[in-house]
Amino acid sequence: MINLYSDTQTVPTENMRKAIADAEVGDEHSRSDPTTLLLENKVAELLGKEEAVFLPSGTMCNLIGVAINTSPGDVVMLESNGHILRSETGGPAIVSNVLTDPVDGEKGQFTVAQIEQRLDQTSRYRPPTSLICLEQTHNFAGGTVWPLELWEEVCSFAKSKEMRVHVDGARLLNAVVASGVSAETWASQVDTIWIDFSKGLGAPMGACIAGSAELIDKAWLWKHRLGGAMRQSGLMAAAAIYALDENVERLREDHARAKRLAEALKELGAEVVEPETNIVFFDMTSCGKSNYEVVQELSKKDVQVSEIGNQIRAVTHLDIGDAEIESAISAITQVVND
Ligand SMILES: Cc1ncc(COP(=O)(O)O)c(C=O)c1O
Repeated sequence: MINLYSDTQTVPTENMRKAIADAEVGDEHSRSDPTTLLLENKVAELLGKEEAVFLPSGTMCNLIGVAINTSPGDVVMLESNGHILRSETGGPAIVSNVLTDPVDGEKGQFTVAQIEQRLDQTSRYRPPTSLICLEQTHNFAGGTVWPLELWEEVCSFAKSKEMRVHVDGARLLNAVVASGVSAETWASQVDTIWIDFSKGLGAPMGACIAGSAELIDKAWLWKHRLGGAMRQSGLMAAAAIYALDENVERLREDHARAKRLAEALKELGAEVVEPETNIVFFDMTSCGKSNYEVVQELSKKDVQVSEIGNQIRAVTHLDIGDAEIESAISAITQVVND
């Protein structure tokens, strides 16, 4: 099976399993799990924030990030194809009682002018926008990386209007590797930011959200409230530490393989969104078959991709080497030529 469905599908390697087995553990509830504390310090340092907290999932990081940066009735502005809006079951509306204001971005990004246009606060009937959420890289736009200049403009503008900024950094480290801009720089002007260990980094679960000590204290309240406080979480923190030490630089290889796949798809006549990181969106309809048919036929050839909207998505990751990419390309070629 060549699994290009998502970078969430990686299986822990032998060495990662050994790191898990060797982990020193304690009770995370009472903050005495040494390996979790080590991970949290490591992430806080990586992101240049006072503190970080380990959570079971990225979805919970977003849920808590919105909760600690808003009050009920506030508006959260975010890109209209953002993961928070599209794929998190309306969590912020239920948990934080906020409204969402989607901005149609280009490549998952939007400008200060777009924010300004929607912020007309002249009416006292309008609910206040207190938070802007950014996604780096942007999943449904195709793993796109915000340009630093635009990112900084948006963050400075938010600050000037006393709005908070929360970052869904499920794939922030892909952006770091692709852009050469440090995680600390991306994090420097934002209030809360998180990274996921269960995507390209190859760990089985978990994510860490970082921010000021005051905000992370509030995050702990929500972690308990939502049932995200754990016990011997050091087992999973050990996998995350291993992933941070061993699997960041190699994201570069995933990006190169995504490019190789994109080039081959273009040669086959597909319309391809140029990959910037590890996600390739493409449309095969010009080859005479629907995207649905292509996905089904590829599945019969043991190649898993997904149909998202009117495109196909293929994601490269730790378990996909050069050989798997070449096999996937031959399977796609056969499907197109059949
Ligand atoms: C951009 C983005 N944000 C958030 C999430 C949610 O992360 P998790 O699966 O760890 O809950 C995902 C998962 O695919 C994602 O792609």
